[in-house]
Amino acid sequence: MKEVQILATGSYVPDRIVTNDELSTVMDTNDEWIKTRTGICERRITTGENTSSIAAKAALKALESSYIKPVDLDLIIVATATPDCYTPSTACIVQDIIGATNATCFDISAACSGFIYGLNIAYQFIKNGAKKNVLVIGAETLSKILDWNNRSTCVLFGDGAGAAILGCGEEKGLIEIHTGSDGRGANLLKCNAASVDINNKDLKEKIYGNTEDVDKSYLTMEGREIFKFAVKAMGETIDTLLNSSELTIEDIKYIVPHQANLRIIDYMIKKLKVDSKKFYTNLQYYGNTSAASIPIAMDQMNREGLLEKGDKILLVGFGGGLTWGGTIIEWTINKNK
Ligand code: UT7
Repeated sequence: MKEVQILATGSYVPDRIVTNDELSTVMDTNDEWIKTRTGICERRITTGENTSSIAAKAALKALESSYIKPVDLDLIIVATATPDCYTPSTACIVQDIIGATNATCFDISAACSGFIYGLNIAYQFIKNGAKKNVLVIGAETLSKILDWNNRSTCVLFGDGAGAAILGCGEEKGLIEIHTGSDGRGANLLKCNAASVDINNKDLKEKIYGNTEDVDKSYLTMEGREIFKFAVKAMGETIDTLLNSSELTIEDIKYIVPHQANLRIIDYMIKKLKVDSKKFYTNLQYYGNTSAASIPIAMDQMNREGLLEKGDKILLVGFGGGLTWGGTIIEWTINKNK
């Protein structure tokens, strides 16, 4: 049976940098609070771009660094909480931009765990022989759904996109994958779908009766509850992956966590009793980019030359849903490819 491998990675972040100091000029916050509570120093914000365009830029970077042509892709999965539209899917729009005319395309909704869920779906399609070359993208323009009047959430997030092309080969690639969900925590981190907006009050009452509008479509989060969930989900996911792969933490060169908060990562470093260098972080520069955070980090590690063929890395994410997931990957890409 062929193995499922990551063949190439790519990422894209918008040029516009918004620092903590800049935020403190427009709202009641400050660099010290944001840095000490989260580790975030700055984030990227899209100006005039939507999720599909930044997703396509990340995809093109992955394609450029592989031997795969857009027409060779037979499946495109976009994980996003901030799609361009209800329909069509962001994946279909990306397909058109990059010219992947032979691909089947769809989006998935699993918040910050979305890229891991996407890898899992890609793995199943490739392993059972249904698809050969699969593009998985995590992309977000979270700045569009933030309540910029709520300092507890808006300082935490940023925009960006990361991509990976998966295919099959002889060497071991994706070794183990685990995902889970718990809808009982659905209200802890959410963004409502857009409410119906009919300007004509009489017409609106005739259709809907005298009902209240649902909440506006902003991202809301119970930060402390999510923090507790995050450390539990990360710990359990790492344990599950190590147990089922019969590997130890020493076998793992890098852990690539969802980039939400440095304090969550510090907690995991202490719990696992590992060197802090084992955890890759870049949230200082990008904030929390939800589904994009893990693939952006993985692409940066790849491009910075941190990953050697044969290294084992562990990706782990958690987020709204509630959802969580992780994977252990044996790196199969030659350095500087
Ligand atoms: O990808 C999704 C996963 N999300 C996460 O992993 C987030 C997990 N949660 C967290 O990271 C933390 O809960 C936060 C960073 C969101 C918040 O940290 P916290 O230590 O839980 O702070 P808090 O919400 O309890 O707020 C503490 C204080 C409050 O003031 P009082 O009531 O103590 O006077 C807030 O009003 O900090 C205040 N505060 C701020 N102050 C300055 C909240 N936001 C800000 C701000 N600037 N931006």
